[in-house]
Amino acid sequence: MNDTQNKEAYATLPRLNLRGRQLHDLEVMLVGGFEPVMGFMNEEDYNGVVESMRLANGALFPIPIVLDVPSDSSYAVGDTILLCDPFGNPLATMNIESRFVPDKEKEVRSVYGTTDRMHPGVQYVMDEMHDTYIGGQVTEIALPVRHDFKQFRQTPKELKALFKERGWDTVVGFQTRNPMHRAHFELVKRAHEKTGAPVLVHPVVGMTKPGDIDYVTRVRTYNVVCNTHGKDFTHLALLPLAMRMAGPREALWHAIIRKNYGCTHFIVGRDHAGPGKGSDGKDFYGPYEARDLAEKYADEIGITLVPSDELAYSKTRSAYITADEVTPEDEIENISGTEFRKRLREGEDIPEWFSFKESIDILRESVKKDSRPGVAVFFTGLSCSGKSTLAQLLLARLQELQDRDITFLDGDVIRDNLSKGLGFSKEDRDTNVRRVGFVASEVVRHGGIAICSLIAPYEEARRSVRNMIEQYGEYIEIFVDTSIEECVRRDTKGFYEKARQGLIKNFTGVDDPYERPENPELIARTEESTAEELVDEIVAYLSGRGILSRK
Ligand code: ADX
Repeated sequence: MNDTQNKEAYATLPRLNLRGRQLHDLEVMLVGGFEPVMGFMNEEDYNGVVESMRLANGALFPIPIVLDVPSDSSYAVGDTILLCDPFGNPLATMNIESRFVPDKEKEVRSVYGTTDRMHPGVQYVMDEMHDTYIGGQVTEIALPVRHDFKQFRQTPKELKALFKERGWDTVVGFQTRNPMHRAHFELVKRAHEKTGAPVLVHPVVGMTKPGDIDYVTRVRTYNVVCNTHGKDFTHLALLPLAMRMAGPREALWHAIIRKNYGCTHFIVGRDHAGPGKGSDGKDFYGPYEARDLAEKYADEIGITLVPSDELAYSKTRSAYITADEVTPEDEIENISGTEFRKRLREGEDIPEWFSFKESIDILRESVKKDSRPGVAVFFTGLSCSGKSTLAQLLLARLQELQDRDITFLDGDVIRDNLSKGLGFSKEDRDTNVRRVGFVASEVVRHGGIAICSLIAPYEEARRSVRNMIEQYGEYIEIFVDTSIEECVRRDTKGFYEKARQGLIKNFTGVDDPYERPENPELIARTEESTAEELVDEIVAYLSGRGILSRK
């Protein structure tokens, strides 16, 4: 078929515009990065993967690759649908073999080992994905268009051809989602020395952990570090993967993917694809759980693992050493990822043992525009709890105290414009909260301050807002904790009374629920302190987090 005939054929198909993870999954799938998986999983494959990391045919595959659709959508088994990018450009067709409602709780428990939503993978599955999955083989129409870093976006086929051309029989794969710091480089160099093979530096540029350094900046660091320090033994290519931060299962998945991209070896070090700490303050996975699981299955995958113990910098020796080389004489230095990002933002010293100077220069350049992250302060609480009073007082104080522009997103005002027409069902309320979250996240992305004041009664929607915002900056949730009796007493418009009489329906606190925030940054108890005192506390808190500093 020519292009015009194709377009006509596609025009009749039901369309699905892919978003977020779905788009990255399709891209890697289409180039063969997930082989043997060449479609979104049907129910049988999905169940096998969730329960025992195996497709229905027995092949090892640890991560579900699924396509979620709204439960009220009409995509049906037997349909051929058109999968498009977010702008509606066709990427692939899919024959729907299976449509099912997954047991998401079981999925996250098996894949991530937890149901704690502090885990970004769990949060994504539970809150960001629809409750119905459709599965089926896909047929490529076109790969998503990527306009940036084209020279590094090699497909498995292209990489394999390149390795062959260069006579590289063995190639070590290196996964990363961080800038190329010295520890990463040391890992790469050691793997090269140990195996004699060149290293494919293969960073993820799809989705990583919220809060990570953006990939554009990271790619600049990889390029300069590989060129300056690893010219003879590294090759840089980008992987458009959406990471799940699933630790052990993710390490296996990464090894399968790198095998598909032509690697014979794969590096797994300490806390590979680790998501950080859970609500209980503990790490989700042990430091070597990922490495151990990858080692267990390496033979079956057909890749040689290059495991590494933790590498740490010994000040005494001025060198990186592994944990088992440490003696009592060694003075070990360490800078955590969080500490590093703080130093970067605040222009503080970042020693050269931690990162190459060329890399630090690029990272500093990227935050130079305004080193301060944007901030969203989100007040949630019952109607008449005092949210707006606190928000307005805070607005005035912040205008006095600092120099950034502030956007005030008040629930009532938003309902008059941005959310006009929305009602008070759970769905509409969540939509309203997410809209405010989206606008606030744009403000934060541009380094501004957003003060939001909404009832926002559901934890799930608030968590989603937190996630949207924490990608770009700081999110401070303030729970305005006022008893319902006091709210009724303060109510000058008679809302509570009308709700009690049934004249207003779905009124939060009367005939609609309010879920108390689980982990707010601050609780404002308006019956114990005055608004001025509470705002003093909020300002002190913001100041303690370095949010009020002037440029
Ligand atoms: S990850 O999420 O992609 O695993 P990161 O980019 O920090 O995060 O790590 C890339 C690889 O380097 C992983 O295999 C990880 O285990 C390894 N790694 C990172 N830092 C160290 C370290 N200090 N010691 C040993 N291995 C490390």
